Amino acid sequence: MEILRHVVVLVHLTGFAILFGAWVVEAVGQRRVTRLMTWGMLVAAVAGLALAAPWGIDYPLNYTKLGVKLVVLLAIGALLGIGTARQRKTGSVPPAMFWLVGILTFLNAALAVLWR
Ligand code: HEM
Repeated sequence: MEILRHVVVLVHLTGFAILFGAWVVEAVGQRRVTRLMTWGMLVAAVAGLALAAPWGIDYPLNYTKLGVKLVVLLAIGALLGIGTARQRKTGSVPPAMFWLVGILTFLNAALAVLWR
């Protein structure tokens, strides 16, 4: 069980890497939202929700932190959804929406690592 949990953590981190990596590429490039960002977010979300249940560990989970992370993730999802639709319609995504995707993704990683 413990090893399986570690594998799910690895999948969760891979989702984060895809989302944040795709965003960094665009931050120094065209500043567009991409399908890779949405895929990374979905991978991080599914693995994160699996990790939010207390299996394979012998310490309590910080549910306040997990609740905050879930709200931040939903905000990223909304930004990517609305941003993708806007981009399809107008050809570009509002800069505030683009930057917020990266800032909120970084915030969730910071919450995961710094809030114990
Ligand atoms: C874009 C959104 C997210 C990002 C960038 C993110 C990032 C991270 C990172 C970097 C870690 C590793 C931290 C460490 O092991 O010290 C982590 C762990 C974790 N995340 Fe997330 N996360 C996200 C969303 C979520 C969501 C929505 C949930 C569940 C509600 C969640 C639940 C967890 C749990 C339970 C762990 C600890 C795994 C363990 O050590 O057993 N994450 N997350």
